[in-house]
Formats: sequence, C-alpha cells, structure tokens
Amino acid sequence: MLVIFGASGDLTARKLIPAIYDLCKGGHLPEKFVVLGVGRSNLSDDDFRKKVFLESKYLKNKIDGEDDNFIAAFADKLFYEDLGKDYDTDYGGLQSRISDLDSKYNTDANHIFYLSTPPSLYEPIAENLAEQALNDESKGWKRLIVEKPFGYSLKSAKGLNVGLHRYFMESQIYRIDHYLGKETVQNLLVTRFANSIFEPLWNRNYIHHVEITNAESGGVEKRGGYYDKSGALRDMFQNHLLQIVSLVVMEPPIGSNADEIRNEKVKALKSLRIMTDEKVLHDSTVRAQYVASVIEGENVKGYREEEGVDPDSTTETYAAVKFFVDNWRWADVPFYVRTAKRMPTKVTEVVIHFKSTHHQIFKDSGMNNKDNKLIIRIQPDEGVLIKFGVKVPGQGFKVERANLDFYYSSLVENHVMQAYERLLLDAMQGDATLYARADEVEAAWEFVDPILDYWRNSDAKVYGYSAGVWGPENADELIEGLGMWRNPSANLADDPGFCVIC
Ligand code: BG6
Repeated sequence: MLVIFGASGDLTARKLIPAIYDLCKGGHLPEKFVVLGVGRSNLSDDDFRKKVFLESKYLKNKIDGEDDNFIAAFADKLFYEDLGKDYDTDYGGLQSRISDLDSKYNTDANHIFYLSTPPSLYEPIAENLAEQALNDESKGWKRLIVEKPFGYSLKSAKGLNVGLHRYFMESQIYRIDHYLGKETVQNLLVTRFANSIFEPLWNRNYIHHVEITNAESGGVEKRGGYYDKSGALRDMFQNHLLQIVSLVVMEPPIGSNADEIRNEKVKALKSLRIMTDEKVLHDSTVRAQYVASVIEGENVKGYREEEGVDPDSTTETYAAVKFFVDNWRWADVPFYVRTAKRMPTKVTEVVIHFKSTHHQIFKDSGMNNKDNKLIIRIQPDEGVLIKFGVKVPGQGFKVERANLDFYYSSLVENHVMQAYERLLLDAMQGDATLYARADEVEAAWEFVDPILDYWRNSDAKVYGYSAGVWGPENADELIEGLGMWRNPSANLADDPGFCVIC
C-alpha cells in the first residue's frame, strides 16, 4: 500500500499517480496493491479518483483510448482519507482505514508512506505514524519516502535526520532525489564502470577540468514563494547537482549494492574541498538573478516581479561554483558547476574536458581549444558524445574536430522509465541505491553551507542577467583561462554558441 501524505497537492497529480499508472500499465505492480491518499481536503474516494486520475490533465492523453476495464480497475485502486485540518493529529482513524484496506486487498501490511508535504511536517507525521505502530515491521515492511528539500542548512538537515531516526530506522527512510531516477544520471555509473576505455583516463593525469551545466528556460513560475526562500543553490545544487558530482568523482565501488555505491558517494562528497576563506569564496562563486527581458517578442518578467517574490529579493536564480576535490584521483582538477533559471534552453550535461596531448606534433593543426571532450547529456536529446580530432583531407596535417555520438532514442528498447516511476518501483522492492542516505545529504550540506553563509553575510554581489541569456558576464571570469563555458543547445551534437537574440 502506497500511502501518500499531501495527496491533494500538485505533486501527487503531476508525478506520483502518473508514475503509478505507468507502472501498472507496464505490468510492474503486484495485483494486491492500493494507493491511499491522505490530506487535509475533504474529498471522497470518488473525488480523489477524479482529481488525480480520471479528470487529471496530466493523464488525459494516456487515458484517452485506453481500455475501459483497465481504467476502471486502476481507479478502483485509489482511496482517500481526510485527516481533518491538521497533519499533527491523532492517526487512530488513519490506522483503522489502513488496516481495513490491508485486509480487504491483502496488502500484507507492506506500506510505503510518501511524504509530499512541507518538510516541517516530516517529523510530526513520522511521530504520529509511530504512535499507531505504523513503523513496526513485525508484520510487513514499512518505508518512509521524503521529498526534498531535505533541510535548509547542515544544522536543519541534521536535526531532521535525528528527528526521523527517532521513529524510523535509516534502512526504512528513502530520501528522494528525482535526478537519481533519470536513466542518464544512472548511466554515468555504467559509462565509468562498465567500460574499460574511460576509467583509465578518469583522473588528474588526463582530465583538465569538469564542467556541469543545468539550465532551465522557465522561470520560477508559480513557486515564487518557495523559491525565494530557497534559491538555486539550495533548490538544485545541494541535491541534484551534487548527486551528479558524486557520481563523476566517486571511486569504483566493490559491487553494485546500495551500501557499496552510497559509501563511495559519501566519500566523494566528503572529499570536496570546503571553502571557508572569503577571498576563495569570492573568486569561486557567482550568484545572479534574471531581470526582465523580451524573448522572441514576448515580455518576460524579471525575478523580482514574479508572484510571491520579495521585490528587494537577493535570492539567486543563477549559481556557478568552481571547486576542487581533495583526493588522489582529482588533485588540482577544477570543477565548474552552474545551475540557473531563464536560460536560453533547458539542458543538463556533464562535460569532461581532457588535457591536450603532452607533445603536439601537428603544430598548425588548428587544435586550439579543441581538446577531446566527453559529453554526457542528461537531458534532453539524451546521449553521449565524444569530440576528437580527425585529419582534414588534403596536404599537410590540418586537424578538425569530429563527433562520435550515441543517442538513447536509437535503442530498440527505448522506453525510458520516468524518474518517479523508477524510484517508486525501487522503493517498493526495497532498493535504496538511488535514494540519498543521511550522511550523503549531510556531506552535501557541509560543502554548501559556507557558500550560503558567505552570500548572506558578505557584500558578495548579486549580478543581473537578462532572462534568456547564458547568465551574467562575470560568470565567464570564473572559468577564465579555459575559454568559455560550453553553452549547449537542445541538440547534443550542436556546437556551443547557441543564444536567443531578443
Ligand atoms: C526541482 C526543482 O527539484 O527540479 C525545480 O525544485 C526544478 O526548481 C526541477 O525546476 C528541475 O527538474 P527537471 O527534471 O525538470 O530537470
């Protein structure tokens, strides 16, 4: 039984129920399976079924044309329990509802509690569940999935871990990071550890620098209230991007089980050099906010004009950080990671820039700035691209850059599970590999906290950039000496330089 707290909220209709629907359609769910939505809205089972499934705009395309019996059978698996006006209340009623559904649908008392609520409610909900022995695994397993943000700082993340550990064991807690559910993020592990051609080069001897870009073309949309208290560093960098960093940085695990992989990820995160010196922080970080602009003839609001945002806000919608990893493999290799809203396009990719050959034979080869690159495209146009030099036909040795590419879309079996689909299935099967462990989350905060403190307590500037461009000019200074950021386009193989002319 999947019990979703915050079931009348947007995430349930937008992501969770569609993911469950796809799992059901793909034949991945056991027959004895039900969803119980829990919330503070006064909804009947039928209201809930309509809201999140039968009349949901997120499922309309999938439902249209689907077999009526299948639709009806799926709708019959959805239930709703109204908690009244507060999540911090007596869960006696909820407990009996769960136990009724258990006996009626033979769910064997195996329960996942998915907390899609504000983080301030995680601990009270865990406590109330424990009061009804709904954390007790003597009859069936009990798992708790919590959404991000997991904490607001190192201190609050630690507090939250301590709070949850009072009622649930770490092995029962699944901290979701939907980036880990992306096939292409998982493919980082396969690229590195299932191929013998990359791993020997994956170190300071051959890698010049690593660049990770996460760009979104959208702004903060309707989430201004939340975002203004968070900012790009907390919203994307502390979790999704540091998860990607940990997969790039980690040492080979001894096997593929959850603990072995997560042990290596924690070690990787702990090896990030924590920046405390003001000058280093000044030289290694850039924050900025988008300002109003016209994109393709449309007026686009500046961040401070967005709904729910303080008109004097200094919250960053762009964050770029340069850092080093203090370990044997990565000594002196700079990492450049940036994330932002209102960029020219939506794209996430990792670029491994290899060093130049140590003896240049082809002096006039035109290889300047054309060293080998491995580009791992997380989204869109998912794939892997290698850039390498080839001889230009004709006299002499003029070298040009060529592409060797692979696209996921070219696979015969190319149904790519959506992140939530994959992660929910893993949680049902008790596989926590793609979930963040307590120490992982804390190690990530340990790195991020000093940057946030510096931004809060110093006169670190908040630069402006027009909505629709690749961030503020100052961000180029961060990567100075290396040319420029690779400003990717929506297509993996296109060369940088993509921009929107307003
Ligand atoms: C969420 C952030 O975690 O990830 C959002 O809160 C962001 O601000 C989203 O837009 C990006 O996810 P994706 O999968 O669209 O890259």
